Amino acid sequence: MAFAYLQAALNARKREGLLRQRRIIDSSAGAMIEVDGQHFLSFSGNDYLGQRQDIAVMQAWVEGISSYGVGSGASPLVTGHTRAHQQLEEFLASGLKREAALLFNSGFAANQAICQALANPNLCILSDKLMHASFVEAAKHCDGTYKRFRHNDIDHLTTLFASSNRQAPQQSQANIQDYLIATEGVFSMDGDLGRLDELHKVAQQYDAWLMVDDAHGMGVLGKTGLGSAEQLNLSQSQVPILMGTFGKGIGTSGAFVAGSQVLIDYLVNFAKHYVYSTAMPPAMAMATYASFQSLADGVKQQTLTQRIAQFRQLCLQTGVPITDSQTAIQPIVIGDPVKCVKISEDLKQLGLWVTAIRYPTVPKGTDRLRITLSASHKHTDIDAFVDALVIVLKRYQVLTHD
Ligand SMILES: Cc1ncc(COP(=O)(O)O)c(C=O)c1O
Repeated sequence: MAFAYLQAALNARKREGLLRQRRIIDSSAGAMIEVDGQHFLSFSGNDYLGQRQDIAVMQAWVEGISSYGVGSGASPLVTGHTRAHQQLEEFLASGLKREAALLFNSGFAANQAICQALANPNLCILSDKLMHASFVEAAKHCDGTYKRFRHNDIDHLTTLFASSNRQAPQQSQANIQDYLIATEGVFSMDGDLGRLDELHKVAQQYDAWLMVDDAHGMGVLGKTGLGSAEQLNLSQSQVPILMGTFGKGIGTSGAFVAGSQVLIDYLVNFAKHYVYSTAMPPAMAMATYASFQSLADGVKQQTLTQRIAQFRQLCLQTGVPITDSQTAIQPIVIGDPVKCVKISEDLKQLGLWVTAIRYPTVPKGTDRLRITLSASHKHTDIDAFVDALVIVLKRYQVLTHD
């Protein structure tokens, strides 16, 4: 039978406890979601600051629609690039102290575009092993060489340079290869931070470029919510390719790449995901701009910081096995996909939504509850959540003592 492998692959996933199925969210308000007529307090989304339903952001969206309509109507190089897009790009470039910025419809598209557009047989990409699938899949398939260094392991990265005979620029007349080091600001599944300060020094040493995917840092980190680069004051020469997304802490959708004018002009000309795709709705650009404005005072970030501290303290008191992550992403590694799903289902019985994240989204044997905290959670939500976690984790011997 033609295409028999489709059903076979699904069957195999089901057997291994790895089959994915979507759930329909009927409504959501703050951290509450409604599924099949039941309401749950969610600890699974990426709306870390509650921006999806911020009044100013929603208002900007409506104003955008009244000015431009709901869609952009064309790709950016045709008639899809509006004043609203330009305003957001200029805001990002100036806030991040970059020469220019470019909007994409999603972080997935931006990561694919970077790899596709920069690819050539002389490009060597060295990325952190835990980099997001949107980058890894593109890097694997691009012309050139792709290697991964162990998570946050600077020594291993240096070894990779050494094994490819890469020399510091002063020792070599002509570096025939271009090297791109890629990492994340905040790692999506673990919540720990990329070692950006060390990585940019290694990049400098080997005349490489550093690229940072700051999907989970945007909105959350930095004095005004502009992410890891703002927090660590990383310049354009230290991080020549800075990518961020809007679908998480910013509460809207889409992404950007910021860097030199040459980089952005190059992407405008050669990034197929940009050139051949309808531009993001202008209303989205306006809502995104409004979201950054509303986050600039840092108030919601302070609330999030308090929730994270409260959650961690309660977990440490009760023995819930959290990791060292200090961000909104607080994983509890279960290590077995079937058990992980059962725990997630039991939490649902208690009105709590925590999605089980399994292989291949995370490495084999590290299936986990990817708990995410938000400024939308109330202090009492966190108390109730940890109480429930203790009950359910004891049931599955993840937590053993009293
Ligand atoms: C680190 C990272 N990069 C890129 C993406 C893709 O971004 P988007 O959801 O905007 O496609 C994600 C999304 O989960 C992510 O976690």
